Amino acid sequence: MTSSVWHPFTQHGLREPIPMVERAEGALLHSAESKSYIDAISSWWVTTHGHCNPKIMAAIAEQAGKLDQIIFAGWTHEPAEAVAAGLRAIMPQNLSRVFFSDSGSTAVEVALKMALGYWHARGEARHRIVVMEHSYHGDTIGAMSVGARGVFNQAYEPLLFDVGTVPFPAAGTEQATLDALDAICRQNDTAAFIVEPLVLGAGGMLIYTPETLAQMHEVCARHGVLFIADEVMTGWGRTGTLLACEQAGVAPDILCLSKGLTGGAIPLAVTMATEAIFEAHWSTERAKMFFHSSSYTANPLACAAAHANLQIWREEPVRERIATLAGRQARWLEKLESFCHFDNARQCGTIAALDLKTSGEGGYLDTLAPDLMAFFRERGILLRPLGNTVYVMPPYCITEDQLADVWNAIGEAVISF
Ligand SMILES: Cc1ncc(COP(=O)(O)O)c(C=O)c1O
Repeated sequence: MTSSVWHPFTQHGLREPIPMVERAEGALLHSAESKSYIDAISSWWVTTHGHCNPKIMAAIAEQAGKLDQIIFAGWTHEPAEAVAAGLRAIMPQNLSRVFFSDSGSTAVEVALKMALGYWHARGEARHRIVVMEHSYHGDTIGAMSVGARGVFNQAYEPLLFDVGTVPFPAAGTEQATLDALDAICRQNDTAAFIVEPLVLGAGGMLIYTPETLAQMHEVCARHGVLFIADEVMTGWGRTGTLLACEQAGVAPDILCLSKGLTGGAIPLAVTMATEAIFEAHWSTERAKMFFHSSSYTANPLACAAAHANLQIWREEPVRERIATLAGRQARWLEKLESFCHFDNARQCGTIAALDLKTSGEGGYLDTLAPDLMAFFRERGILLRPLGNTVYVMPPYCITEDQLADVWNAIGEAVISF
């Protein structure tokens, strides 16, 4: 029987095989054809502690016996309260308010609306959003508007709003980014700067320094421009610390979290904000409330998973696991560099990436990507290169042997392609 499913970011005309996955545990996916795959990209960067983590699964199961769903406008429940309190305890102390939603894109939409709502409530006509070249913040209209323009969103261009863009701060060009940011922030209609801290994920695992992140934050603070950290990908230890912002000593005004918030088990997102942003929306007038919601906001099952994730971070040596994985990634990059040739080896915490030589056009649609994906799939590895960029971002529980299999396959690919 042919499937009726329309898959995301998939060109069905190419008729690539779409494996059916039945089970997963740790870093392993098991297909219906009894084949196993090492999940070297954490199933789109979400799975942190490993698939079907017993504590997270148990928390969801227990919650499922109590409360499945409840409208969150004007109602609350224990798992949501516990998650909000848990986040308050470990996230930057200035972020006193926690707003729930369901995905990274919605967390970003909420952040943009909070920023504009803040200025609106203060009676200041600030509506310009500043973004970084090559960034990605999701696929809804607002999130696309603040992301890089290109083949991904060409068809929707007429609906996207204008933004100010600063160049990516590649090594040696940081001052140009800071100057551009300063120039845009000087314009008194600038509301906020949204940025992926330290690593631009979908843009090609592009890495910049904590110093630049700190300096960009300083520029925004100097001009009173709100600083939105989109840590949807970089959060939850990916860059070596709980938040990437931590490495720069930056406390953003607004923080977007999703993916690893539930350990990657079930969709949930939060947008955290300062008391000043909350207070700007506080009023006794209903017309001034924050007009945002979705039906499943703060779903209790998802909150139970997030609560279990927070407990894992509190009780287990997650930071040590991350440090061990980061060390192994560094050694593998170094080893590979010693026997084969590729460009731009780079690493930030648990994320390692390199660029393969290509005769194609480069970029996301480089023809190398589907060939590489098939090459890795045949070897029992889930890797999904971004064009000619191969990156490894595994769950923190990946074993030394599994990681070796991944990197040996990458070595083989570098030589073969
Ligand atoms: C930095 C960043 N922001 C936002 C998103 C969107 O998240 P979601 O796919 O959950 O909507 C992503 C997804 O990869 C992301 O990497």
